[in-house]
Amino acid sequence: MKLSRRSLLAGAAVIGAGAVVARSLWHAPEAPAEPQALRIPDLLDARRQGHSVALQVQAGNTEFYPGRASRTLGYNGSYLGPTLRVHRGDDVEIAVTNTLKEDTTVHWHGLLIPAELDGGPHQLIRPGATWRPRLPIRQAAATLFYHSHVHERSGVQVYSGLAGLLLVSDDEERALGLPSEYGVDDLPLVLQDRQFEDSRLVLPEGMMAIMQGRRGNTTLVNGTPNAVTRVPGRLVRLRFVNGSNARIFDLSFGDQRAFHWIASEGGLLEEPIEVRSLTLAPGERVEILVDFANGRPVALETAPDTNLPMMMGPMARGRNFATEIFGVGDEVVLRFEPVVSDPRPGVVPGRLIARQRVDASQATRRRRFVLSMGMGGMMGGRMGSGGDMFINGRPFEMDRIDERAPLGDTEIWEISGEMMSHPVHIHGVQFEVLSRDGGKPTLRDAGVRDTVPVRGPVELLVRFTQSAIKAPFMYHCHILEHEDNGMMGQFVTT
Ligand code: C2O
Ligand code: CU
Ligand code: CU
Repeated sequence: MKLSRRSLLAGAAVIGAGAVVARSLWHAPEAPAEPQALRIPDLLDARRQGHSVALQVQAGNTEFYPGRASRTLGYNGSYLGPTLRVHRGDDVEIAVTNTLKEDTTVHWHGLLIPAELDGGPHQLIRPGATWRPRLPIRQAAATLFYHSHVHERSGVQVYSGLAGLLLVSDDEERALGLPSEYGVDDLPLVLQDRQFEDSRLVLPEGMMAIMQGRRGNTTLVNGTPNAVTRVPGRLVRLRFVNGSNARIFDLSFGDQRAFHWIASEGGLLEEPIEVRSLTLAPGERVEILVDFANGRPVALETAPDTNLPMMMGPMARGRNFATEIFGVGDEVVLRFEPVVSDPRPGVVPGRLIARQRVDASQATRRRRFVLSMGMGGMMGGRMGSGGDMFINGRPFEMDRIDERAPLGDTEIWEISGEMMSHPVHIHGVQFEVLSRDGGKPTLRDAGVRDTVPVRGPVELLVRFTQSAIKAPFMYHCHILEHEDNGMMGQFVTT
Protein backbone atom coordinates (compact mmCIF):
# COMPACT_ATOMS: atom_id res chain seq x y z
CA MET A 1 0.00 0.00 0.00
CA LYS A 2 1.24 3.44 -0.80
CA LEU A 3 1.07 5.95 1.97
CA SER A 4 0.13 9.54 1.32
CA ARG A 5 2.59 12.38 1.57
CA ARG A 6 0.94 13.27 4.85
CA SER A 7 1.89 9.98 6.46
CA LEU A 8 5.36 10.47 5.12
CA LEU A 9 5.49 13.78 6.92
CA ALA A 10 4.54 12.10 10.16
CA GLY A 11 7.16 9.44 9.50
CA ALA A 12 9.85 12.01 8.95
CA ALA A 13 9.03 13.69 12.25
CA VAL A 14 9.19 10.35 14.03
CA ILE A 15 12.68 9.61 12.84
CA GLY A 16 13.62 13.03 14.10
CA ALA A 17 14.46 14.49 10.72
CA GLY A 18 12.80 17.76 11.64
CA ALA A 19 9.25 18.68 10.87
CA VAL A 20 10.15 22.01 9.31
CA VAL A 21 12.34 20.42 6.71
CA ALA A 22 9.86 17.66 6.06
CA ARG A 23 6.94 20.01 5.62
CA SER A 24 8.69 22.30 3.22
CA LEU A 25 9.80 19.41 1.08
CA TRP A 26 6.79 17.17 1.12
CA HIS A 27 4.22 19.84 0.39
CA ALA A 28 0.71 18.55 0.39
CA PRO A 29 -0.25 17.78 -3.20
CA GLU A 30 -3.04 19.67 -4.90
CA ALA A 31 -6.32 17.88 -5.44
CA PRO A 32 -5.99 15.61 -8.48
CA ALA A 33 -6.53 17.62 -11.61
CA GLU A 34 -7.76 16.70 -15.06
CA PRO A 35 -5.13 15.49 -17.49
CA GLN A 36 -4.03 18.22 -19.86
CA ALA A 37 -2.52 18.00 -23.31
CA LEU A 38 1.22 18.53 -23.17
CA ARG A 39 2.14 21.99 -24.42
CA ILE A 40 4.84 22.11 -27.06
CA PRO A 41 6.78 25.38 -27.24
CA ASP A 42 6.81 27.10 -30.65
CA LEU A 43 9.85 26.29 -32.75
CA LEU A 44 11.92 29.19 -34.07
CA ASP A 45 14.42 27.87 -36.57
CA ALA A 46 17.11 30.50 -37.00
CA ARG A 47 17.65 29.56 -40.67
CA ARG A 48 14.01 30.14 -41.45
CA GLN A 49 14.19 33.45 -39.59
CA GLY A 50 17.04 34.75 -41.75
CA HIS A 51 19.55 34.05 -38.96
CA SER A 52 17.99 36.59 -36.68
CA VAL A 53 15.66 35.84 -33.84
CA ALA A 54 13.79 38.22 -31.54
CA LEU A 55 13.08 37.36 -27.94
CA GLN A 56 10.95 39.56 -25.77
CA VAL A 57 11.23 39.09 -22.03
CA GLN A 58 7.78 39.74 -20.68
CA ALA A 59 5.43 39.39 -17.74
CA GLY A 60 2.04 37.82 -18.21
CA ASN A 61 -0.66 35.59 -16.85
CA THR A 62 -0.60 31.83 -17.28
CA GLU A 63 -3.48 29.47 -16.65
CA PHE A 64 -1.68 26.32 -15.57
CA TYR A 65 -5.13 25.12 -14.60
CA PRO A 66 -8.12 26.32 -16.63
CA GLY A 67 -9.65 29.47 -15.19
CA ARG A 68 -6.87 29.95 -12.61
CA ALA A 69 -4.39 32.59 -13.69
CA SER A 70 -0.91 33.00 -12.16
CA ARG A 71 1.49 35.90 -12.68
CA THR A 72 4.45 34.56 -14.61
CA LEU A 73 7.36 35.52 -16.85
CA GLY A 74 8.23 34.27 -20.31
CA TYR A 75 9.97 34.88 -23.62
CA ASN A 76 7.56 35.85 -26.42
CA GLY A 77 4.79 34.47 -24.23
CA SER A 78 3.68 34.25 -20.64
CA TYR A 79 5.65 31.20 -19.42
CA LEU A 80 8.89 29.66 -20.74
CA GLY A 81 9.96 30.54 -24.29
CA PRO A 82 10.06 29.27 -27.84
CA THR A 83 12.48 26.49 -28.76
CA LEU A 84 15.32 28.05 -30.76
CA ARG A 85 16.92 25.83 -33.35
CA VAL A 86 20.36 26.82 -34.58
CA HIS A 87 22.75 25.11 -36.98
CA ARG A 88 26.42 24.43 -36.65
CA GLY A 89 28.48 26.82 -38.74
CA ASP A 90 25.91 29.62 -38.68
CA ASP A 91 26.11 32.96 -36.92
CA VAL A 92 22.82 33.82 -35.31
CA GLU A 93 21.77 37.27 -34.23
CA ILE A 94 19.47 37.39 -31.30
CA ALA A 95 17.70 40.54 -30.18
CA VAL A 96 16.58 40.23 -26.58
CA THR A 97 14.29 43.02 -25.43
CA ASN A 98 13.58 43.38 -21.74
CA THR A 99 10.05 44.65 -21.17
CA LEU A 100 10.21 43.89 -17.43
CA LYS A 101 10.60 46.50 -14.72
CA GLU A 102 13.71 44.73 -13.46
CA ASP A 103 17.06 43.69 -14.90
CA THR A 104 17.41 40.37 -16.60
CA THR A 105 19.99 38.43 -18.61
CA VAL A 106 19.69 35.52 -21.03
CA HIS A 107 22.35 32.87 -20.59
CA TRP A 108 22.88 30.30 -23.37
CA HIS A 109 23.56 27.31 -21.15
CA GLY A 110 25.87 24.87 -22.93
CA LEU A 111 26.72 27.07 -25.90
CA LEU A 112 30.44 27.34 -26.57
CA ILE A 113 30.87 31.05 -27.27
CA PRO A 114 33.12 33.83 -25.97
CA ALA A 115 32.23 35.02 -22.49
CA GLU A 116 30.97 38.48 -23.46
CA LEU A 117 28.14 36.76 -25.41
CA ASP A 118 27.34 34.25 -22.68
CA GLY A 119 24.48 36.10 -20.99
CA GLY A 120 25.82 35.59 -17.49
CA PRO A 121 25.41 38.09 -14.63
CA HIS A 122 27.73 40.60 -16.32
CA GLN A 123 25.59 40.98 -19.46
CA LEU A 124 22.70 42.75 -17.76
CA ILE A 125 19.77 43.84 -19.86
CA ARG A 126 18.20 46.85 -18.21
CA PRO A 127 14.45 47.48 -18.33
CA GLY A 128 13.52 48.69 -21.82
CA ALA A 129 16.90 47.76 -23.30
CA THR A 130 17.68 45.36 -26.14
CA TRP A 131 20.76 43.13 -26.09
CA ARG A 132 22.00 41.93 -29.48
CA PRO A 133 24.56 39.17 -29.22
CA ARG A 134 25.71 37.54 -32.46
CA LEU A 135 26.24 33.90 -31.60
CA PRO A 136 28.74 31.82 -33.58
CA ILE A 137 27.43 28.24 -33.55
CA ARG A 138 30.48 25.99 -33.77
CA GLN A 139 29.65 22.91 -31.75
CA ALA A 140 28.12 19.50 -32.31
CA ALA A 141 24.38 18.93 -32.26
CA ALA A 142 23.02 19.07 -28.73
CA THR A 143 20.09 19.96 -26.51
CA LEU A 144 20.92 23.20 -24.68
CA PHE A 145 18.79 25.71 -22.89
CA TYR A 146 18.59 29.38 -22.18
CA HIS A 147 17.53 31.05 -18.98
CA SER A 148 17.82 34.12 -16.80
CA HIS A 149 21.11 34.55 -14.92
CA VAL A 150 20.83 37.81 -13.00
CA HIS A 151 22.88 37.61 -9.86
CA GLU A 152 20.66 36.98 -6.81
CA ARG A 153 17.52 36.83 -8.98
CA SER A 154 18.13 33.80 -11.21
CA GLY A 155 16.09 31.59 -8.90
CA VAL A 156 13.04 33.85 -8.88
CA GLN A 157 13.16 34.65 -12.59
CA VAL A 158 13.62 31.05 -13.72
CA TYR A 159 10.99 29.85 -11.26
CA SER A 160 8.60 32.42 -12.73
CA GLY A 161 9.20 31.11 -16.25
CA LEU A 162 12.36 32.54 -17.81
CA ALA A 163 13.77 29.45 -19.52
CA GLY A 164 13.56 27.82 -22.94
CA LEU A 165 15.24 25.24 -25.14
CA LEU A 166 18.06 25.81 -27.57
CA LEU A 167 18.70 23.00 -30.04
CA VAL A 168 21.90 22.81 -32.04
CA SER A 169 21.70 20.67 -35.13
CA ASP A 170 24.40 19.56 -37.56
CA ASP A 171 24.97 17.30 -40.57
CA GLU A 172 26.33 14.32 -38.62
CA GLU A 173 23.28 14.23 -36.44
CA ARG A 174 20.92 14.62 -39.39
CA ALA A 175 22.68 11.80 -41.24
CA LEU A 176 21.85 9.35 -38.44
CA GLY A 177 18.16 9.53 -39.27
CA LEU A 178 17.11 9.82 -35.64
CA PRO A 179 13.49 10.84 -35.04
CA SER A 180 13.53 14.58 -35.68
CA GLU A 181 10.04 15.83 -36.40
CA TYR A 182 9.69 18.53 -33.77
CA GLY A 183 6.72 18.04 -31.50
CA VAL A 184 5.79 14.75 -33.19
CA ASP A 185 8.51 12.14 -32.73
CA ASP A 186 11.14 14.54 -31.35
CA LEU A 187 9.70 16.04 -28.19
CA PRO A 188 11.17 18.88 -26.16
CA LEU A 189 10.43 18.26 -22.48
CA VAL A 190 11.28 20.89 -19.87
CA LEU A 191 10.75 19.29 -16.45
CA GLN A 192 10.10 21.59 -13.50
CA ASP A 193 8.64 21.15 -10.07
CA ARG A 194 6.63 24.11 -8.89
CA GLN A 195 4.55 24.92 -5.83
CA PHE A 196 0.82 25.40 -6.43
CA GLU A 197 -1.75 26.50 -3.94
CA ASP A 198 -5.37 26.70 -4.94
CA SER A 199 -4.19 25.89 -8.49
CA ARG A 200 -2.06 29.02 -8.64
CA LEU A 201 1.71 29.20 -8.79
CA VAL A 202 3.28 30.45 -5.55
CA LEU A 203 6.89 31.35 -4.83
CA PRO A 204 8.38 29.42 -1.89
CA GLU A 205 10.28 31.83 0.35
CA GLY A 206 12.32 31.64 3.53
CA MET A 207 15.26 29.79 4.91
CA MET A 208 14.34 26.30 3.75
CA ALA A 209 13.63 27.51 0.23
CA ILE A 210 17.24 28.64 0.17
CA MET A 211 18.87 25.71 1.96
CA GLN A 212 17.23 23.05 -0.17
CA GLY A 213 16.32 25.25 -3.13
CA ARG A 214 12.79 26.15 -4.22
CA ARG A 215 10.79 22.97 -4.74
CA GLY A 216 7.13 22.30 -5.27
CA ASN A 217 4.21 19.92 -5.08
CA THR A 218 3.56 19.77 -8.82
CA THR A 219 5.59 18.56 -11.77
CA LEU A 220 5.21 20.63 -14.91
CA VAL A 221 6.31 19.47 -18.34
CA ASN A 222 6.67 22.47 -20.67
CA GLY A 223 4.49 24.31 -18.15
CA THR A 224 1.76 21.62 -18.25
CA PRO A 225 0.63 19.99 -15.00
CA ASN A 226 -0.72 16.45 -15.22
CA ALA A 227 0.45 16.26 -18.80
CA VAL A 228 -0.57 13.64 -21.32
CA THR A 229 0.57 13.40 -24.92
CA ARG A 230 -0.04 11.29 -27.98
CA VAL A 231 2.99 9.83 -29.64
CA PRO A 232 3.37 7.81 -32.81
CA GLY A 233 3.59 4.08 -32.09
CA ARG A 234 7.23 3.82 -33.05
CA LEU A 235 10.64 4.99 -31.92
CA VAL A 236 10.39 8.47 -30.40
CA ARG A 237 13.12 10.83 -29.25
CA LEU A 238 12.63 12.66 -25.99
CA ARG A 239 14.83 15.62 -25.10
CA PHE A 240 14.73 16.25 -21.38
CA VAL A 241 15.88 19.44 -19.75
CA ASN A 242 15.76 19.67 -15.98
CA GLY A 243 14.56 23.26 -15.60
CA SER A 244 13.76 22.90 -11.89
CA ASN A 245 15.38 25.22 -9.41
CA ALA A 246 16.53 22.35 -7.21
CA ARG A 247 14.78 19.06 -7.80
CA ILE A 248 16.56 15.99 -9.07
CA PHE A 249 14.35 13.67 -11.11
CA ASP A 250 14.92 9.92 -11.18
CA LEU A 251 13.05 8.92 -14.32
CA SER A 252 11.72 5.56 -15.43
CA PHE A 253 8.66 4.21 -17.19
CA GLY A 254 5.75 2.70 -15.28
CA ASP A 255 6.27 -0.67 -16.99
CA GLN A 256 10.03 -0.56 -16.34
CA ARG A 257 10.74 -0.76 -20.07
CA ALA A 258 14.27 -0.32 -21.32
CA PHE A 259 15.11 2.72 -23.41
CA HIS A 260 18.21 4.14 -25.03
CA TRP A 261 20.13 7.09 -23.71
CA ILE A 262 21.68 8.77 -26.78
CA ALA A 263 22.88 12.23 -25.78
CA SER A 264 24.24 14.12 -22.80
CA GLU A 265 24.69 17.90 -22.39
CA GLY A 266 27.47 18.08 -24.98
CA GLY A 267 25.53 16.12 -27.60
CA LEU A 268 25.39 12.57 -28.88
CA LEU A 269 27.14 9.76 -27.06
CA GLU A 270 29.47 7.55 -29.03
CA GLU A 271 26.89 4.80 -28.82
CA PRO A 272 23.45 4.42 -27.25
CA ILE A 273 23.36 3.13 -23.69
CA GLU A 274 20.42 0.92 -22.78
CA VAL A 275 18.96 1.77 -19.37
CA ARG A 276 15.72 1.53 -17.42
CA SER A 277 16.10 4.72 -15.44
CA LEU A 278 18.06 7.97 -15.55
CA THR A 279 18.58 10.71 -13.01
CA LEU A 280 18.44 14.32 -14.13
CA ALA A 281 19.73 17.10 -11.89
CA PRO A 282 18.94 20.80 -12.43
CA GLY A 283 20.69 22.07 -15.55
CA GLU A 284 21.32 18.58 -16.95
CA ARG A 285 19.91 17.41 -20.27
CA VAL A 286 19.54 13.97 -21.79
CA GLU A 287 18.11 12.69 -25.03
CA ILE A 288 16.60 9.23 -25.12
CA LEU A 289 14.93 6.96 -27.67
CA VAL A 290 11.85 5.08 -26.51
CA ASP A 291 9.90 2.56 -28.52
CA PHE A 292 6.10 2.93 -28.35
CA ALA A 293 5.41 0.27 -31.00
CA ASN A 294 3.48 -1.97 -28.60
CA GLY A 295 0.79 0.73 -28.59
CA ARG A 296 0.24 0.58 -24.85
CA PRO A 297 -0.20 3.78 -22.86
CA VAL A 298 2.62 4.26 -20.38
CA ALA A 299 3.58 6.83 -17.79
CA LEU A 300 6.98 8.36 -17.28
CA GLU A 301 7.54 8.49 -13.54
CA THR A 302 10.00 9.90 -11.10
CA ALA A 303 11.19 8.51 -7.80
CA PRO A 304 10.71 10.70 -4.70
CA ASP A 305 12.78 13.81 -4.18
CA THR A 306 15.49 12.93 -1.66
CA ASN A 307 18.37 15.36 -2.22
CA LEU A 308 18.18 17.20 1.06
CA PRO A 309 20.69 19.01 3.22
CA MET A 310 22.52 16.95 5.80
CA MET A 311 19.97 16.82 8.62
CA MET A 312 17.70 14.89 6.29
CA GLY A 313 20.60 12.55 5.66
CA PRO A 314 18.78 9.32 6.44
CA MET A 315 16.26 10.21 3.76
CA ALA A 316 18.88 11.04 1.22
CA ARG A 317 19.51 7.41 0.36
CA GLY A 318 17.32 7.50 -2.67
CA ARG A 319 14.50 5.59 -4.16
CA ASN A 320 14.65 2.34 -2.24
CA PHE A 321 14.92 3.89 1.16
CA ALA A 322 12.00 6.25 0.63
CA THR A 323 9.90 3.51 -0.86
CA GLU A 324 10.70 0.87 1.75
CA ILE A 325 10.43 3.03 4.81
CA PHE A 326 7.66 5.39 3.85
CA GLY A 327 5.92 3.51 1.10
CA VAL A 328 6.13 6.59 -1.06
CA GLY A 329 5.92 5.46 -4.62
CA ASP A 330 6.89 7.05 -7.85
CA GLU A 331 5.03 10.04 -9.12
CA VAL A 332 3.80 10.50 -12.67
CA VAL A 333 5.61 13.09 -14.76
CA LEU A 334 4.02 12.57 -18.17
CA ARG A 335 1.61 10.06 -19.71
CA PHE A 336 2.13 8.78 -23.24
CA GLU A 337 -0.68 7.52 -25.46
CA PRO A 338 0.81 5.84 -28.52
CA VAL A 339 -1.10 5.89 -31.77
CA VAL A 340 -0.07 2.95 -33.89
CA SER A 341 -0.74 3.42 -37.59
CA ASP A 342 1.99 1.68 -39.55
CA PRO A 343 3.79 -0.58 -37.12
CA ARG A 344 7.50 -0.27 -37.84
CA PRO A 345 10.05 -1.76 -35.53
CA GLY A 346 12.27 1.02 -34.32
CA VAL A 347 15.91 0.73 -35.24
CA VAL A 348 18.31 2.22 -32.75
CA PRO A 349 21.63 2.96 -34.43
CA GLY A 350 24.48 0.91 -33.03
CA ARG A 351 26.96 3.78 -33.25
CA LEU A 352 26.18 7.45 -32.96
CA ILE A 353 29.23 9.63 -33.40
CA ALA A 354 32.97 9.38 -33.12
CA ARG A 355 34.44 11.66 -30.50
CA GLN A 356 37.97 12.75 -30.20
CA ARG A 357 38.93 12.03 -26.64
CA VAL A 358 40.95 14.54 -24.71
CA ASP A 359 43.85 12.83 -23.05
CA ALA A 360 44.00 13.36 -19.28
CA SER A 361 47.79 13.35 -19.40
CA GLN A 362 47.59 16.65 -21.29
CA ALA A 363 46.20 18.37 -18.22
CA THR A 364 48.50 21.20 -17.22
CA ARG A 365 47.06 21.87 -13.83
CA ARG A 366 44.74 20.67 -11.10
CA ARG A 367 42.35 22.94 -9.21
CA ARG A 368 40.24 21.94 -6.25
CA PHE A 369 36.82 23.28 -5.35
CA VAL A 370 34.64 22.57 -2.34
CA LEU A 371 31.00 23.63 -2.39
CA SER A 372 29.62 24.28 1.07
CA MET A 373 26.65 25.73 2.84
CA GLY A 374 26.90 28.02 5.84
CA MET A 375 24.75 27.40 8.86
CA GLY A 376 24.10 31.08 9.61
CA GLY A 377 20.68 30.88 8.05
CA MET A 378 19.76 27.83 10.07
CA MET A 379 20.33 29.83 13.22
CA GLY A 380 18.02 32.56 12.00
CA GLY A 381 20.98 34.56 10.79
CA ARG A 382 21.50 36.33 7.54
CA MET A 383 20.03 33.79 5.16
CA GLY A 384 18.71 35.49 2.09
CA SER A 385 21.16 38.34 2.35
CA GLY A 386 23.62 36.39 0.24
CA GLY A 387 26.83 34.83 1.35
CA ASP A 388 25.63 31.69 3.08
CA MET A 389 26.75 29.48 0.23
CA PHE A 390 30.40 29.11 -0.62
CA ILE A 391 32.95 27.76 -3.01
CA ASN A 392 36.28 27.22 -1.28
CA GLY A 393 34.94 29.07 1.72
CA ARG A 394 34.05 32.25 -0.15
CA PRO A 395 30.70 33.53 -1.39
CA PHE A 396 30.50 34.86 -4.95
CA GLU A 397 31.49 38.42 -5.64
CA MET A 398 30.78 40.17 -8.93
CA ASP A 399 34.09 42.04 -8.87
CA ARG A 400 36.39 39.19 -7.87
CA ILE A 401 37.96 36.89 -10.44
CA ASP A 402 38.56 33.57 -8.73
CA GLU A 403 40.53 31.65 -11.32
CA ARG A 404 42.63 32.38 -14.41
CA ALA A 405 43.11 29.59 -16.92
CA PRO A 406 45.24 29.72 -20.07
CA LEU A 407 43.06 29.63 -23.18
CA GLY A 408 43.49 26.32 -25.00
CA ASP A 409 44.71 24.47 -21.92
CA THR A 410 43.24 21.34 -20.41
CA GLU A 411 42.95 21.06 -16.63
CA ILE A 412 41.61 18.71 -14.01
CA TRP A 413 39.01 20.31 -11.79
CA GLU A 414 38.40 18.29 -8.67
CA ILE A 415 35.10 19.28 -7.12
CA SER A 416 33.27 18.07 -4.06
CA GLY A 417 30.08 19.16 -2.37
CA GLU A 418 29.05 19.19 1.26
CA MET A 419 25.74 18.28 2.88
CA MET A 420 23.92 17.24 -0.29
CA SER A 421 24.38 16.67 -3.98
CA HIS A 422 25.11 19.87 -5.91
CA PRO A 423 24.76 19.98 -9.70
CA VAL A 424 27.91 21.76 -10.80
CA HIS A 425 27.87 23.70 -14.04
CA ILE A 426 30.81 25.40 -15.75
CA HIS A 427 30.19 28.02 -18.41
CA GLY A 428 32.01 28.13 -21.72
CA VAL A 429 33.47 24.63 -21.55
CA GLN A 430 32.64 21.00 -22.01
CA PHE A 431 34.19 18.37 -19.80
CA GLU A 432 34.39 14.67 -19.18
CA VAL A 433 34.12 12.95 -15.82
CA LEU A 434 37.42 11.21 -15.03
CA SER A 435 36.56 9.78 -11.65
CA ARG A 436 33.90 9.81 -8.96
CA ASP A 437 34.45 9.16 -5.26
CA GLY A 438 37.98 8.09 -5.97
CA GLY A 439 36.89 5.37 -8.37
CA LYS A 440 35.62 4.97 -11.88
CA PRO A 441 32.88 7.29 -13.14
CA THR A 442 29.38 5.81 -13.10
CA LEU A 443 27.47 4.87 -16.23
CA ARG A 444 25.50 8.10 -15.87
CA ASP A 445 28.73 10.13 -15.99
CA ALA A 446 29.25 9.12 -19.62
CA GLY A 447 29.51 11.60 -22.45
CA VAL A 448 30.58 15.17 -22.80
CA ARG A 449 29.04 17.32 -20.13
CA ASP A 450 28.61 20.87 -18.91
CA THR A 451 26.69 20.04 -15.74
CA VAL A 452 27.23 17.16 -13.35
CA PRO A 453 25.91 16.27 -9.89
CA VAL A 454 28.64 16.36 -7.27
CA ARG A 455 28.78 15.16 -3.71
CA GLY A 456 31.89 13.13 -3.03
CA PRO A 457 34.91 14.25 -5.06
CA VAL A 458 34.59 14.23 -8.80
CA GLU A 459 37.47 14.84 -11.22
CA LEU A 460 36.56 16.69 -14.39
CA LEU A 461 38.75 17.02 -17.44
CA VAL A 462 38.03 20.55 -18.61
CA ARG A 463 39.24 22.20 -21.80
CA PHE A 464 39.17 25.96 -22.21
CA THR A 465 38.33 26.68 -25.83
CA GLN A 466 36.36 29.93 -25.44
CA SER A 467 37.89 33.25 -24.60
CA ALA A 468 36.92 34.98 -21.39
CA ILE A 469 38.90 38.17 -21.71
CA LYS A 470 36.24 40.85 -22.09
CA ALA A 471 34.07 39.15 -19.46
CA PRO A 472 34.40 36.21 -17.07
CA PHE A 473 32.71 32.81 -17.19
CA MET A 474 30.81 31.46 -14.18
CA TYR A 475 30.99 28.10 -12.46
CA HIS A 476 28.36 27.33 -9.89
CA CYS A 477 25.86 25.04 -8.28
CA HIS A 478 22.75 24.81 -10.48
CA ILE A 479 20.46 24.68 -7.47
CA LEU A 480 19.52 28.25 -8.29
CA GLU A 481 19.06 29.36 -4.69
CA HIS A 482 22.56 28.14 -3.90
CA GLU A 483 23.89 30.03 -6.90
CA ASP A 484 21.98 33.20 -5.96
CA ASN A 485 23.30 33.01 -2.42
CA GLY A 486 26.93 32.71 -3.29
CA MET A 487 27.77 29.17 -4.46
CA MET A 488 29.35 30.55 -7.61
CA GLY A 489 32.76 31.65 -8.80
CA GLN A 490 34.15 33.14 -11.99
CA PHE A 491 37.17 32.59 -14.17
CA VAL A 492 38.85 34.37 -17.04
CA THR A 493 41.15 32.97 -19.68
CA THR A 494 44.65 34.25 -20.12
CU1 C2O B 1 22.28 27.17 -16.57
CU2 C2O B 1 25.19 29.47 -15.07
O1 C2O B 1 23.66 28.38 -15.76
CU1 CU C 1 25.74 27.90 -18.38
CU1 CU D 1 24.18 23.47 -4.31
